[in-house]
Amino acid sequence: MKMHTTKQSLGAALAGERRQGRTIGFVPTMGALHEGHVSLMRRARGENAVVVASIFVNPLQFAPTDDLARYPRSLEADAALAAEAGVDHLFAPEVAEMYPHGSIATRVDVGPIGDIGEGAWRPGFFAGVATVCCKLFHIVAPDRAYFGQKDAQQLAVIRQLVADLDLPLEIVGCPTVREPDGLALSSRNTYLDPEARRAAPALAAALMAARDAAASGEESAEELRWTVKTCLEAEPGIRLQYVDLFDADSFSARERLDGRGILAAAAYVGGTRLIDNVDVVPAALPAEVRGR
Ligand code: PAJ
Repeated sequence: MKMHTTKQSLGAALAGERRQGRTIGFVPTMGALHEGHVSLMRRARGENAVVVASIFVNPLQFAPTDDLARYPRSLEADAALAAEAGVDHLFAPEVAEMYPHGSIATRVDVGPIGDIGEGAWRPGFFAGVATVCCKLFHIVAPDRAYFGQKDAQQLAVIRQLVADLDLPLEIVGCPTVREPDGLALSSRNTYLDPEARRAAPALAAALMAARDAAASGEESAEELRWTVKTCLEAEPGIRLQYVDLFDADSFSARERLDGRGILAAAAYVGGTRLIDNVDVVPAALPAEVRGR
């Protein structure tokens, strides 16, 4: 695996790969890599001749009160994991390489999807994500890029970005990797102290209870929300911030489950904010649609 810290070095290496007609798969990350990231890298490895991963903690997607300064950084361990997962080129630029003047004036406006769900609680977050991904897609020029369903709204934002701006790549969504107790893997799980770690899986359990309710015929978003809230009342270590139902394709908010949906939530466990989501499918949907 080759490490690159400049666009120029990565660009030169990838020009050589492209001249030989090799397809490029790309996995953007913010590092502190875990098995969730590794699953994306392995998938990219299986589907492309060349695999590029990036590690860049993107200041543009952090609010001033967010955890930018203390976001976990572990480049050496990350490089070992990426190499083991089959990454050929690891791009780990400094902030000055991506934003030479400290920041940039241009933002990708993602429209209404940026103001609902996560966006309602993190203003500007999805514009920051879309802007850095747009830059990275231009720097890497991949044939395919891999994103986790763990961040379902981010995946929807990126699909919209690529469709709206005719970016010439395919977006591949990959399933959420979980701990055996259901907790979705996340770089921010390193913040959890033992008591928070014990309480944290209740979020996934509550979402899964609502998914089961939907499978048994519950179609009201309010009832599904109530199921999640009630489950979490039994776990005082968790404070639910929101839980909402979205259409699985458009990611528009839904009050009734009238097709494949995504139930997404954020919760605080101690001082740590966790997000998670599950696919919810109405019982009434035909078997071939349900078995997506
Ligand atoms: P980061 O949180 O590092 O996540 C990088 C990629 O890994 C994302 O596509 C995310 O959905 C995926 N991922 C994280 N946890 C996962 C899990 N448990 N199972 C499967 N996939 C998982 O998301 C970002 O970074 C940034 O916003 C980024 C897209 C890199 C732009 O800065």
